[in-house]
Amino acid sequence: MVKVELTGAAVHRIEAGLLGLTAFEEDLSGGGTSPLQDLDRRLDGHLFALAREERFQGKVGQTLLLNTLGRIGASRLFLLGLGARAKAADVARAGFEPLRMAAGSAGRAAHKAGAGTLAFAVPPELEAAAAARAAVEGALLGTYRFGRYKTKPEERALVGRLVLSVPGGGARAEGVRAAVRLGERMAAAVALARDLVNEAPLNCTPSRLARAAEELAHEAGLRCEVRGPREIAALKMGLFLGVARGSVEEPRLVKVSYLPRRGAGARPVVLVGKAITFDSGGLSLKPTDSMVTMNGDMAGAAAVLAAMKVIAHLAPPFPVHALLGACENMPGGRAYKPSDVLTAYNGKTVEITNTDAEGRLVLGDVLAWAVDTLDPAALLDVATLTGACVVALGQFTVGAFGPDGPVMEALLPAAACAGEDFWRLPLTEPVKETLKSEVADLRNTGERWGGAISAAHFLREFTGEAPWAHLDIAGPSHSAKERGYIGKGGTGVAVRSLVEFVRAWPPKGRGPRA
Ligand code: BES
Ligand code: MN
Ligand code: ZN
Repeated sequence: MVKVELTGAAVHRIEAGLLGLTAFEEDLSGGGTSPLQDLDRRLDGHLFALAREERFQGKVGQTLLLNTLGRIGASRLFLLGLGARAKAADVARAGFEPLRMAAGSAGRAAHKAGAGTLAFAVPPELEAAAAARAAVEGALLGTYRFGRYKTKPEERALVGRLVLSVPGGGARAEGVRAAVRLGERMAAAVALARDLVNEAPLNCTPSRLARAAEELAHEAGLRCEVRGPREIAALKMGLFLGVARGSVEEPRLVKVSYLPRRGAGARPVVLVGKAITFDSGGLSLKPTDSMVTMNGDMAGAAAVLAAMKVIAHLAPPFPVHALLGACENMPGGRAYKPSDVLTAYNGKTVEITNTDAEGRLVLGDVLAWAVDTLDPAALLDVATLTGACVVALGQFTVGAFGPDGPVMEALLPAAACAGEDFWRLPLTEPVKETLKSEVADLRNTGERWGGAISAAHFLREFTGEAPWAHLDIAGPSHSAKERGYIGKGGTGVAVRSLVEFVRAWPPKGRGPRA
């Protein structure tokens, strides 16, 4: 746990192992005055000299690390480019993502430098509360480490304190303080999602994931129901059971619920997360290289659970439920097979053409159950569903599917506000035809082309009339390299957008029953 403090002190006085300071291009181009001039004087002119030598021009993503040799309170100064000051408004429009990224780089640099205290200065050009929140999120997530299995202490998290410098008396403003607390909660939730994704699959089985949900619910004052294989069978979730059959690990159906004190009867927001705790592909076995990150095939569930933690604190005036169908996809002796025909919760029959298209099967049953039992005002599913979505959008963008309507209208602005990159993809009508089966109501895979679209069409068969959106996070749920506040491994993507979605729900101009 990193302790967060606010200060209004001049930056040169702040004592820290590393001080992250944003710089605009105008600060380094020579003309006019720059807030860096005071620091440059204190550092005997070395700051600007070094910037020139290293060609640090304040461009977005550029960084410059210098040791201050004891001339200011911080041992190291880490400059982070934010681009042109004239375009500072773009930072806000991007959900403060460039600032979050910069603070994240500072967090990672502090960790690498072995700093116990990280300081970060919020630039005065930006709206103080929102910028402070983004800076806290970025800095804390930048210091995140999955250290559970490291036996050397230096490879575990080191930064224990974050000092956030907010200009112009902002450190004392209640709005800023509240925003910082929300940023802390948000970062903790994203870190929890990362922990769940990064966990070794042997320690994140369906039953262990269900227990993690119970613990989270207990701590946050939420309700939690867990169902085992017999109850899942009694519910006639034939698709879910079919996928689970190939593993010796029992499946779990998990429901975490936030119920408001007043408004418990309002139509709920329902979040469904894909919770395949390991995806071997089943009998349609994955090649070795594709299987290595498949412990993260429950990243949707992790995001949904983590978001519930923040939602419990926000206490919206309508219920919010998180549903997970947790199981492994394994090729055991009792595994479901290509050519099997399974019957879903909603009665539809599905011909299995590829056992590696397992996520949509489990989600189909859980979505149909959600629609049948909860009458959602908004139904959102989050899933590491298809490699095709990664091909379409790259590794950094979430694919968003769903019909026009209040959910999509609220979702895309919520993601933009959270600083997460979502891109809407179409439910192209002819692609739906590729799911037609000769023997059953539908098959579980379509043709190769438009694979993310056919997967979304498959889910659509189980969402009835509910206002629904589907998020394919196969790409951005995992990162192969370090980038700003993102480290290698699980990213915790979608947590922030889900929270922002609930914060903004229902969309203005529409009643709560829209
Ligand atoms: N979990 C995978 C999707 C995935 C791929 C997630 C890469 C993260 C990174 C999913 O269960 C899967 O295997 N999908 C298949 C579907 C195909 C068989 C129609 C895929 O994308 O290849
Ligand atoms: Mn699969
Ligand atoms: Zn999968």
